[in-house]
Amino acid sequence: MAHTAVVTGATGYVATELVKQLLEKGYIVRGTLRSLASKEKYSHLVDLGNALPGKLTLHEADLLVEGSFDEVVKSADYVFHTASPFIMQVQDPQRDLVDPAVKGTKNVLQAAVKSKDTVKRVVVTSSFAAVVKSQKGPQNGSLFTEADWNDESSLTDQPYRFSKTEAEKAAWAISKQEGLDLVTINPTFVLGPIIGSRADATSIILFKDFIENKGANIIPWQVDVRDIGRAHVLAVEVPSAQGRYIVSHPSTLSTKYISEVLSEHFPQYRFPAGTDAEAKQVIDNSKVQKELGLKLLPAKFSYIDMATTLIQRGIATPVPQ
Ligand SMILES: NC(=O)c1ccc[n+]([C@@H]2O[C@H](COP(=O)([O-])OP(=O)(O)OC[C@H]3O[C@@H](n4cnc5c(N)ncnc54)[C@H](OP(=O)(O)O)[C@@H]3O)[C@@H](O)[C@H]2O)c1
Repeated sequence: MAHTAVVTGATGYVATELVKQLLEKGYIVRGTLRSLASKEKYSHLVDLGNALPGKLTLHEADLLVEGSFDEVVKSADYVFHTASPFIMQVQDPQRDLVDPAVKGTKNVLQAAVKSKDTVKRVVVTSSFAAVVKSQKGPQNGSLFTEADWNDESSLTDQPYRFSKTEAEKAAWAISKQEGLDLVTINPTFVLGPIIGSRADATSIILFKDFIENKGANIIPWQVDVRDIGRAHVLAVEVPSAQGRYIVSHPSTLSTKYISEVLSEHFPQYRFPAGTDAEAKQVIDNSKVQKELGLKLLPAKFSYIDMATTLIQRGIATPVPQ
């Protein structure tokens, strides 16, 4: 019998790829979103639901409203909690980042606790932001591992990182207290093809700027969106999956390298020169490979496929040579 999976924030860049992979595998997917009113925000999901073998239904739920996820989680087998604001510029970090991240995580996990008779595992999309320490560096040796926690960020210093750290801590606290089976996926900066034509995710905004030769602000720790989707699916399909999983290339990738890959593939366009930097291994990414059997796509495919989909959908207009 097909398993039922809830995906919160199903409209998002990462979640849409996850929904696609789940539907391809025949899951019954319940996607949550803030509002069903603006159809253009989720038409890509409706298209996926119509095209793929699994079955998709969409449900309204609000991260900030207690009990909002109870109904959609009821009788589900798995819960994937991806919804969380990933915004770099905010007016009020508590209201705009920390509250939806932390209260949302508590609300979703409490809904899973209430349905513990059917929910076998919850997977929370955390972030490498909850791991990395830019000042202190890794706690053991020179590489960041799942044992590292970001204990530097605060409401006033890197509030997005703070929101992800606090949300993940809240998830582990509930898991421990309630005996809820929890796995977290901790991606670095996600790149790779987009599905649909929504372009408001930070990953998409920054990569669009690069393609349009307007900026080269791509974070050097990176991973492909398809690998993040696979990691989430493996996190429920591998029974022994446990704890946190950093999902990332192990070494930094420079903007000069991105420029070289794109210039070779799209010689008709001009991209930012980027900055040269020696590839430096910063991350031990062996846990997800050993325990979940995940093989990472080479980064050049993330750049080429992301640029191709952004250009094809008319989201990015590159500068001709
Ligand atoms: N992209 C990356 O590089 C990256 C790296 C590491 C971790 N992550 C994590 O991956 C997850 C998805 O990120 P993404 O890149 O896919 O971003 P995204 O496209 O902006 O998606 C964010 C999702 O969260 C929902 N959301 C945001 N604020 C909300 C609120 N107050 N109430 C309800 N829903 C809310 C959005 O819903 P609406 O459709 O209603 O706006 C959207 O579905 C996040 O947890 C993020 O922290 C992302």
